[in-house]
Amino acid sequence: MTNLSSRVLVVDDEKLIRWSVAERLQRSGYEVISAESGEQALELIAANPPDVMLLDVKLPGIDGVQTLQRALAENADLIVLMMSAHSTVDVAVEAMKHGAVDFLVKPFPFQALDAAVERAIATARTRRQITALASERRNANALDAIVGGSASMEQVRSMISRLGSSDTTTVLIEGESGCGKEVVGRAIHFQSARAERPFLQVNCAALPEHLLESELFGHERGAFTDAHAQKRGLFESAEGGSVMLDEIGDLPPGGQAKLLRLLENKTFRRVGGVQELRSDVRVIAATNVDLEQRVAEGRFRADLFFRLNVVRIIVPPLREHQEDVPALAAHFIARFNAELKRQVRGVSSQAMELLKAYHWPGNVRELRNVVERAFILHAGVDEIRPEHLSPELRRATPAKRSEKLVPAVTPDGLVLDDVERKLIVEAMERASGNQSKAARLLGVSRDTLRYRLKKHGIG
Ligand SMILES: Nc1ncnc2c1ncn2[C@@H]1O[C@H](COP(=O)(O)OP(=O)(O)OP(=O)(O)O)[C@@H](O)[C@H]1O
Ligand SMILES: [Mg+2]
Repeated sequence: MTNLSSRVLVVDDEKLIRWSVAERLQRSGYEVISAESGEQALELIAANPPDVMLLDVKLPGIDGVQTLQRALAENADLIVLMMSAHSTVDVAVEAMKHGAVDFLVKPFPFQALDAAVERAIATARTRRQITALASERRNANALDAIVGGSASMEQVRSMISRLGSSDTTTVLIEGESGCGKEVVGRAIHFQSARAERPFLQVNCAALPEHLLESELFGHERGAFTDAHAQKRGLFESAEGGSVMLDEIGDLPPGGQAKLLRLLENKTFRRVGGVQELRSDVRVIAATNVDLEQRVAEGRFRADLFFRLNVVRIIVPPLREHQEDVPALAAHFIARFNAELKRQVRGVSSQAMELLKAYHWPGNVRELRNVVERAFILHAGVDEIRPEHLSPELRRATPAKRSEKLVPAVTPDGLVLDDVERKLIVEAMERASGNQSKAARLLGVSRDTLRYRLKKHGIG
């Protein structure tokens, strides 16, 4: 077995120890670097972190425990083995509380060194695997939050995963209200390396101009009448994470200028402040208006638009991916079952027909509301049926379907009676069995409908 891929840093002020330890480890196949002080060790770690550090407790300058703490603060994955004389064993033990994995008491036999380093390397490997697994799982989960297997949603998912590790890229998300822009924004954040840091959002249309700027960038005390104390803005609070700016098209000119500066220089000033503050935040902008149109009208800065539009993700309206309606409905049913402790099994086929036919002007949010309404208004139901849907939805008769309903006269002819029967069945379904409603749909009186129901043996 070769250990060539593992790097070991030996830190000791005694040249002989550095030399003999390094010599032994090199023979075992490790790549070895060495340092004679804590300061030098930290420099080497910063330049090219090793897998394992063998660290003497007693060092000139900053001591072993301090070196350990600083090294781990910079590089949490580093595995540290302490080396100590008999007289300082208590310090070595103390060091383990600060994150060292083991210690060797000098003078140690080479076998003990080999065994300890081997264990340390194995620990390093396991840790890396765990970190990799955790981030893989996190990434998978982030994308799972986006429900829908349609080609268009798959495309959205693939865009998000292609953003991958480039976690500074600005993203512009476009889509109608309620179509899932926030869901997409969250997925972008939570599948990125920023996932452990904050995800904050603000709606640029919801606040008046001066409040919005102070919300985003913070303000200094006395910046305006109500500014009684200094306030951190969203960009400061989200440091290392992501900020989602909803309805970016409504960001006023002052905010546009500040945002452009932040994207270009990674710096900003609090409102009323003179100090330049640095910011490491990914900006995710969302819009349900055509930003290019706003640029053309002179209401949105072109330079800011180009800065934001590095990667553009278009979330389609629900009517353009109707095939996701069943999966989305099931998703919301599961959610409300859990929240409201209910056991709704699903959507009846008739009700599903209506859901699939509806044009969803309010997009996925409207579908969620439809499911919620059925849960709230019909406490006892075990299945969502047409009568649990709003009148609007029950009226859902897409043009396409009604056209198909009246069959063309084929060369073989058709039987009028059959056509009439089909139309009556269809109307009764749409009206969920309510005869007056079905009669209205067909433009006949209730009595006429009753007569025909009987004639066709329906009901
Ligand atoms: N693909 C999806 N999978 C699961 N839930 C979704 C999906 N799309 C939207 N939703 C849900 O629908 C609702 C509305 O979505 P969201 O808030 O993301 O829309 P939006 O585009 O940001 O709307 P607005 O323009 O009003 O800000 C939320 O409850 C969200 O969880
Ligand atoms: Mg939103």
